[in-house]
Amino acid sequence: MREEISAERIMKDLGTGIIGRSVLYLPETGSTNEVARAEARAGAAEGTAVVAGLQTGGKGRLKRTWRTPEGNIALSVILRPPKVHLPQLIMVSSLAVVRAIGEVTGLEARIKWPNDVLIGGKKVCGILIENDLHRGTVNFSVIGIGINISFDPADYPDIYSPATGLEAEAGGGISRVKLIRSLLRNMEKLYLSLGEDDAVYDDWKKSVATLNSRVTVSSEDEVLEGLAEDIGRDGSLMVRTDDGTLHRVFAGDVTLRREN
Ligand code: BTN
Repeated sequence: MREEISAERIMKDLGTGIIGRSVLYLPETGSTNEVARAEARAGAAEGTAVVAGLQTGGKGRLKRTWRTPEGNIALSVILRPPKVHLPQLIMVSSLAVVRAIGEVTGLEARIKWPNDVLIGGKKVCGILIENDLHRGTVNFSVIGIGINISFDPADYPDIYSPATGLEAEAGGGISRVKLIRSLLRNMEKLYLSLGEDDAVYDDWKKSVATLNSRVTVSSEDEVLEGLAEDIGRDGSLMVRTDDGTLHRVFAGDVTLRREN
């Protein structure tokens, strides 16, 4: 029998101060990011989370679609950070997913720069961050997280990268409520520690599998091939091409392929 999800079950004794203080659970919706953006525009408090059991119009990066059939997780969190913290939201969200997966399943997940979460080289989670700014000030950011739980990539032959689901990797059932709660707690801890020191950046960097591997980075303007040498505090990837030039690549509109 499928586990029951509700806002009450997610929020009960959650223990966070901001993230998850209000949870909106929708059994079915188009895109939790779209719902969260509308809620944020209407004045929803920072930390409000929108969770769906099924998405019919999930959005991915680079205008791709994202599949969330029943039994998986689609979640969006509204944040209202200072502008200086925007580059770190990628770090907060992907590291929170890695930690939540570790806590709930014992599996070691790794990050493919900038913010895919992989297990054994296969994508188990995608993150879409949408920022709304007005005259240089952040109105809100929506952190959209899709985690594959009972997901069989064979059902979706058009998927653009090797994918997997947590239940297949763990070899058994996973509580979505437990995973969501752990994710919200980890997000809050990391989010609140931004600005204190470099701990979030340092820990995120340790989880990034892309470092020290050969990569191909494609954007509309160019294709770069080289060694992923380092990652900046602003989240940019430093790629050394074979002519010795160091290129700084920002997450925005690029796709990345690992060669080794
Ligand atoms: C990607 O890897 O392309 C990013 C996928 C992000 C998917 C999540 S699911 C929850 C939230 N709502 C959406 O419509 N998209 C994000």
